[in-house]
Amino acid sequence: MIKTKITELLGIKYPIVGGTMMSISTADFVAAISNAGGLGVLASAIYKSKEEFEKAIDRILGLTDKPFAVNINLFPGMQLIDNNVYIDVMQEKGVKIVETSGHAAPSDLCVRFKESGMTWIHKCVGLRYALKAESLGADAVTVVGYENGGATGKLDIGTLVLIPTVVDGVKIPVIGGGGISDGRGLAAVLALGAQAAILGSSLLVTQECPIHDNLKQALLNASELDTKLVMRSIGATHRVWANAAAQKCAEVEASGGSFEDVINIVSGEKSRKMYEKGDLDAGIISCGQGIGLVKEKPTVQEFFDRIVHQAEETIKTIDIS
Ligand SMILES: Cc1cc2nc3c(=O)[nH]c(=O)nc-3n(C[C@H](O)[C@H](O)[C@H](O)COP(=O)(O)O)c2cc1C
Repeated sequence: MIKTKITELLGIKYPIVGGTMMSISTADFVAAISNAGGLGVLASAIYKSKEEFEKAIDRILGLTDKPFAVNINLFPGMQLIDNNVYIDVMQEKGVKIVETSGHAAPSDLCVRFKESGMTWIHKCVGLRYALKAESLGADAVTVVGYENGGATGKLDIGTLVLIPTVVDGVKIPVIGGGGISDGRGLAAVLALGAQAAILGSSLLVTQECPIHDNLKQALLNASELDTKLVMRSIGATHRVWANAAAQKCAEVEASGGSFEDVINIVSGEKSRKMYEKGDLDAGIISCGQGIGLVKEKPTVQEFFDRIVHQAEETIKTIDIS
């Protein structure tokens, strides 16, 4: 069994965090990840009212007695309601772990996390942001390299360099990811000094993941070459699956398209249509290069058991002769 500072801090069995995924990290999926031994992270930004968010937390509490976290989204323009409303509910319901991502957490929010005794993890893409979070009182920091699915930020640092840079630069434990899809990746992240891995893209094809089977099948057929960076022209670079909508977005950006032209292609509403109806080109889906390593559609439990076993074997049998 791999024990690390993060498994101890969060009280989880495996050194694995199931990355927040907008519109996908709902209560049932989060509970499946936590029940399988990882840390499930609920995407609060999915919920448009206090009541809906309360129901989601209650649902998780009904489905698992294992640790889980809530993500507070700090990306500008993505908050449907004030983040303080989510934090009120988290305090009322006794949520113990909070993850922030997007920009540095405003100091008023950090104070609230600390007052409520929550363990606070901040996710970012570079040492300077990790140091800022540490100075604001973060208990752990997650860093994801340029290979990752979703927001890549502006610094474009690959996982192999980013993790040890941040491990050397901060005192708090580090969770690392970007391209981790199997046990060799988990072993690598641990070798680089991280105390756990964060996985996003590889979880998209698990049986419990609430996206249409057409999309899972298409992602299973994707290789490491089938991702694309979009939205750099509007200051919100994301790595996504290279479908027709992503191609269109890249063309619109290359020809100087406006903010509205880009947003029209990448809207959350279109992505949700894709997830629900399996219409593969309706919108975009964040996806990292690690999708090329994913060949099966396991349950989350099978997936986690397998990768942890493979990581243990890799660590034991690494052969440099
Ligand atoms: C479909 C999808 C949606 C995502 N949505 C979010 C999000 O809303 N907020 C966030 O902080 N990260 C988001 N991410 C990033 C993941 O939480 C995680 O950091 C990343 O996927 C890890 O890298 P990997 O995809 O290479 O495993 C998303 C990733 C994917 C694949």
